[in-house]
Amino acid sequence: MDMTIEKTAELGASGLTLDLASGKPAYFNYYWLRDNCPTSFNTTTRERSFDIFHLSEAPRPLSTVVTSAGLDVAWNDGHSSHYPMEFLEQYASGTLRHDPADLPRKAWYGDHYPDVARFTHAELLADKTKVRAWLEAMLVEGVSVVTGMPDSNEGLTQLVNVMGQVRPTFFGDYFDVKTHIKPTNTAYTSAALELHTDTPAEEHAPGVQFLHMRRNSVEGGRNLFGDGVAAANDFRKIDPEGFRILSETDVPFYCEHDTYDMRSRQRIIELDQHGEVSGLTISQHMLDIIDLPQTEMDRFYPAFCAFGKLLQSDRYIMRFTLQAGECIVFDNHRIVHGRAAYSATSGERYLRGCYADRAEMRSTWRALVSEGRFRA
Ligand SMILES: [Fe+2]
Repeated sequence: MDMTIEKTAELGASGLTLDLASGKPAYFNYYWLRDNCPTSFNTTTRERSFDIFHLSEAPRPLSTVVTSAGLDVAWNDGHSSHYPMEFLEQYASGTLRHDPADLPRKAWYGDHYPDVARFTHAELLADKTKVRAWLEAMLVEGVSVVTGMPDSNEGLTQLVNVMGQVRPTFFGDYFDVKTHIKPTNTAYTSAALELHTDTPAEEHAPGVQFLHMRRNSVEGGRNLFGDGVAAANDFRKIDPEGFRILSETDVPFYCEHDTYDMRSRQRIIELDQHGEVSGLTISQHMLDIIDLPQTEMDRFYPAFCAFGKLLQSDRYIMRFTLQAGECIVFDNHRIVHGRAAYSATSGERYLRGCYADRAEMRSTWRALVSEGRFRA
């Protein structure tokens, strides 16, 4: 008789139960097991090549063998599967798959500018360890400055392409911030620009914003940047009920002119899957007329104003002048930005900007730091 310990799994109506290495029993659904046989995945394309919709009847084991190495199943469709024990352990308790991009955020305050992560354009194009440090700073702090930018449109595109593609918005791939004669947006005037996140009227506002300072010889126009996570976390402690209202109420935003009428509903304070603050959507110049019942305004507006005033306080806002040749890169769902007024006749101010996608940034980060499901 074979001396290795061989057992069978306990077969139920919809799934089986076996003992994990710890001796703890674990249940697995038959569909899930059949769908996720290791042979279901093509190691060349790295995609699932098995299609469970093609099974003519519900999957059921004809026989099973459980050893310390794992589970073997002979299926009613003629297929045989082997599931390593570590694989079963990983999925036994319904814990979400580990995401290396799900890094804890580090809140920062108004004194952060000297410590903002800085990289040169040249090193990010040449050195993967610098790219890794850059993306880590973006995930954790949500802001970075890239210096030594070429004075060209291509220089900005090259930088974006280190993390992903240029992500268009409804007004195009790139935008140029300078004073316009017939402005369609406050940004295109020399007036002060209150703290905001960009294009809140889009269904999915762009995730990462790049602002490349090409020329800056004007008087005034200091850049203002603040961490929405820092302010919202403090607000949560100061006014828990106000925080709840701002993180649960859908608020209308708009962007309208002759040929467009963008509308969306967003939450002022955004939470992630852990219930932690992930960022903000805030823009006084694109906030639509709030169409909640008037009695709800009694609670909404005091909370909204208390938070807006808190966000503007010196505790949170870095003030600095972005120099020509620098590009500030920041999480558009987390970092609020604005600008002091400037004198349009005192010189030239030209910022060229664009966006990338946060999910694509996370994808690039994961590919740099983790093994993934199939990478060698
Ligand atoms: Fe903006």
